[in-house]
Amino acid sequence: MDAASFIKSVHAGLRQKWHEGHEDFDNIWQEHCNQSDTLQKYAAAMHHLAVDNWQRLGEPQEENRIFWCKNVIMEYYFNGILQKILTKQARRLFYLENGQNIQSSMMNAFVSKEVANQVAIIQRSFINCDKVKLLDVGSCYNPFAEFSQSFVTTAIDLCPADKSVIQCDFLNVAINEAELSEQTNDGVTCAEWLKSNQLQARYFHVVIFCLLLSYFPSPVQRWKCCIHAHRLLMQNGLLLIITPDSSHQNRNSKMVKSWKTAIESIGFTRWKYVKLDHLHCMAFRKSCDVTKNDKDKFASSMYIPQDFNDLTVHNNTICNDANAVSCSDDTKVLARCISLLLKGTVLYHNPKNEQSYI
Ligand SMILES: C[S@@+](CC[C@H](N)C(=O)[O-])C[C@H]1O[C@@H](n2cnc3c(N)ncnc32)[C@H](O)[C@@H]1O
Repeated sequence: MDAASFIKSVHAGLRQKWHEGHEDFDNIWQEHCNQSDTLQKYAAAMHHLAVDNWQRLGEPQEENRIFWCKNVIMEYYFNGILQKILTKQARRLFYLENGQNIQSSMMNAFVSKEVANQVAIIQRSFINCDKVKLLDVGSCYNPFAEFSQSFVTTAIDLCPADKSVIQCDFLNVAINEAELSEQTNDGVTCAEWLKSNQLQARYFHVVIFCLLLSYFPSPVQRWKCCIHAHRLLMQNGLLLIITPDSSHQNRNSKMVKSWKTAIESIGFTRWKYVKLDHLHCMAFRKSCDVTKNDKDKFASSMYIPQDFNDLTVHNNTICNDANAVSCSDDTKVLARCISLLLKGTVLYHNPKNEQSYI
């Protein structure tokens, strides 16, 4: 079996167990985490696929997920995007507090002061004045290590493929909410915290989920990861999500919209979205410190097409496709269809199994 097929088979196996296991995820996950041979084989296969196949076989830089993340972070923190966003926010705040009839010189003074204060806070939090604190979750082989001039990366993975990556299950990591002093600002600290399976709230400038969320068989775990990211990011920090999809830009646009709504409900605002040939790439800014909605209200919105195996999801459409009839023979599929219909989701059988990235 080649590396990509092996990786897909691990994802599919987890999904199948989850569907069969009456959604008892904790046991299934524990069992998965104990399969160290499979995890190590997966780590080696992923490392090989990324470095020897995608990179070496001439993947263009503009299609490369790691460069996309790097460029977005540099643009946001060092090419004026953050200042622009903060300026817009400060103007809105000024209007809300003072109405529109106030002199523009007063507003400009207020906005400049407000933005300068916030930028100063962010700059003080950079390591050595100019290094971004990055958490790469599901890092595998630490692909961001090559940007050590700009980033101090804490790379974690369930099963590391490189010794610079720290073993950690992000789903079960503890998050320390105690206030952090401004002195606690060196990259070494994270490795210390992780020895006791902990990370510090509001510490990171960037959290990256690169091909991570589709590893999980259920929307609930994807949701949990996004909630954790929100707690770990400082105000205005960035959550970057890369998720595989080799189909046409609009094919899964409902999924992308559904993720946007869910993630924004946590206290993020989407700043950027790009569809590359094989990937959706999204950048969310932590715009609000307090989670806005009832916890878990949007968890089921974090679905991916594979959640339905050979079924394709279409929200809010009535399905009269003839293929739907063939689904009804299978009781399990039928049960799943009914449960999703009750949530306002309609399914139909996907006759053409589109080739996917991993
Ligand atoms: C598809 S690989 C992506 C690797 C890398 N981010 C990349 O883009 O090449 C997904 C990785 O997520 C890791 N992973 C899955 N669940 C995890 C968890 N709960 N905590 C930490 N890492 C996890 C897996 O071990 C695997 O290395």
